[in-house]
Amino acid sequence: MTANSNASAGILSVLHETRLFSPPPEFSATAHIKSLDHYRELYRQSVESPEKFWGRQAEAELVWSKRWDEVLQWEEPFARWFVGGQLNVSVNCLDRHLGTPAANRAALIWEGEPASDDKPGEERTLTYQQLHHEVCRFANVLKRNGLKAGDRVIIYLPMVPEAAIAMLACTRIGAIHSVVFGGFSAQSVADRIHDSTAKMVLTADGGFRRGAVVALKRNVDDALKLTDSHGNLLAQTVEKVIVLRRAALEALPMEPGRDVWWHEELSKVDAHCPAEPMDSEAPLFILYTSGSTGKPKGIFHTTGGYLLGAKLTSRYVFDLRDTDVYWCTADVGWVTGHTYVVYGPLANGATSFMYEGAPNHPEPDRFWRIVEKYGITILYTAPTAIRAFMKWGEAWPRKHDLSSLRLLGTVGEPINPEAWMWYHKIIGGARCPIVDTWWQTETGTIMITPLPGATPTKPGSATLPFFGVVPEVVDDQCQPVPRNTGGKLVIRKPWPSMLRGLWGDPRRYEQVYWSDVRGSYFTGDGCRQDEDGYFWIVGRIDDVLNVAGHRIGTAEVESALVSYPSVAEAAVVGRPDEMKGQALVAFVTLKTGVRPSPDLRQQLRDHVAKEIGAIAKPDDIRFAEALPKTRSGKIMRRLLKQVAAGTEIKGDTTTLEDLNVLARLTASSDE
Ligand code: WTA
Repeated sequence: MTANSNASAGILSVLHETRLFSPPPEFSATAHIKSLDHYRELYRQSVESPEKFWGRQAEAELVWSKRWDEVLQWEEPFARWFVGGQLNVSVNCLDRHLGTPAANRAALIWEGEPASDDKPGEERTLTYQQLHHEVCRFANVLKRNGLKAGDRVIIYLPMVPEAAIAMLACTRIGAIHSVVFGGFSAQSVADRIHDSTAKMVLTADGGFRRGAVVALKRNVDDALKLTDSHGNLLAQTVEKVIVLRRAALEALPMEPGRDVWWHEELSKVDAHCPAEPMDSEAPLFILYTSGSTGKPKGIFHTTGGYLLGAKLTSRYVFDLRDTDVYWCTADVGWVTGHTYVVYGPLANGATSFMYEGAPNHPEPDRFWRIVEKYGITILYTAPTAIRAFMKWGEAWPRKHDLSSLRLLGTVGEPINPEAWMWYHKIIGGARCPIVDTWWQTETGTIMITPLPGATPTKPGSATLPFFGVVPEVVDDQCQPVPRNTGGKLVIRKPWPSMLRGLWGDPRRYEQVYWSDVRGSYFTGDGCRQDEDGYFWIVGRIDDVLNVAGHRIGTAEVESALVSYPSVAEAAVVGRPDEMKGQALVAFVTLKTGVRPSPDLRQQLRDHVAKEIGAIAKPDDIRFAEALPKTRSGKIMRRLLKQVAAGTEIKGDTTTLEDLNVLARLTASSDE
């Protein structure tokens, strides 16, 4: 396997993990799935007769305005689920709860970022009835401004209830949303508008992050002015920008005819908005994510299959019930925010808590304060956050009563057993099961995971597949590998919430996901299965890094670096990092006559932030006279990874063009 250095380190560190935690009997007693045998029986049905299984689930779980004719049409790699069926996502998340006991239950509870401990953040609660009302009104605003079924719309908002309202309003009228994380730059916004040919942008004057205001609308203005290399506007399809007043910024320029205020538009509409019946296979959303080439991939999901997966995984993995106050800490800009802040919990009539701020602002006990104050029962967060909490010390969580918690979850990257144990003991009081959930933007919903009342857990393992998911670990020849051997993780069968493709680029979809291993979806992750069949994900094996739970394509950062005038060449690799999982190290050669300097290093980091966003800033930039290359001119990343990690250079260097380059690089890293 061509694992990167972090992945191989992962294999070693988890090999010795033998601790096993059975679900607490009192948890299992009331859980939706109470035993491993029950899970195994349902799993067997789901993979032996998938169409029967999924047809039954779709009938029981979703409200259809027209029943489907066929459960699955599969022409590899293109799947169509519940073919001929029609439904509406907002109806399934909202209308269906009206007139039931859920109508006056909190759908969303939100807290804004506080200025300080004595100036608490704003609070808002929206019941299902109220959320329905707001979604209908905003859907009318979208219609009034010319948005129709099938149109694309960019959502570039902070973590406020309006983000969820906007998403649901799009689904109500059948518009396709593409949420762009608020930390992305104007350039990233422009690229996404361009690729999706979006007609509208929904944004805010600003959002708050650690006391600072992020000027979202200004970024949109900049994005709408950016041009490609031929001087053509990138975002020329945008006709309307709807602006939410959040940060009360003074003197925000509004372009007449194009920009309108959210609150002014709301005053012009009523709350009556019939839902558009959508084809089960109508695109629901596009979400851009890093790939191993420079251009982000527009992953798109469709309506029926995605919603069914979101609903079922939320219910079974989080064992959701009416009394829960469930908190997924992800931003709506990521897939986790889509599926497990908005669609999954709301489809179940659950209470989803949303928080705008950072975990350590104003103090590192922010999360624990929230857990205590709102009586959070289920907490779903990322390993990188858990490692940060460990570093800040257990005194912070100890200050608060965390006894309301009954279940913990993680997602985004492999969790190291130490962090798992800390989460278990310090946050979970050794009483809450932990669900380590493996999935991807592409998979739409959780794929490999414990079911908390059924599956004994091992720290660091995502354990066993969810219903209908058939994962396998294979070698470079596509052959299944024996147990306890590392290989590529593939998925053998289509599943309802799988991506349907890359927006506008079916060939790239085939080539990226379906050409590596014949007949299977290739995840890009390395994995091994242990003697009990448990899956241990060891990280990416392509040129995508996982930095603090975010996927960053090295090629994207490289192309941002070389777009800076003084840079000749750049190679970006990952180095293991205690907090972030992986850190980005850039090796940069400069054009003749340009001298390296600390200033230039800072300018390059700022440039990457401007091109992509702050999350892609290299942690370390090393200027080099040359990069190690093979005789055919390929950069030898394997060697750079070793230099970056500070490990001894091992392995074959016989194809290296100039051995001196390596010697100089190693020397320069000792500076
Ligand atoms: C990684 C996030 C190990 C993996 C939902 C995957 C994980 C990528 C886990 C997807 C986990 C996610 N254990 N690795 N529990 N969850 N990953 O698209 O490398 O942002 O391919 O989706 O994150 O990241 P994405």
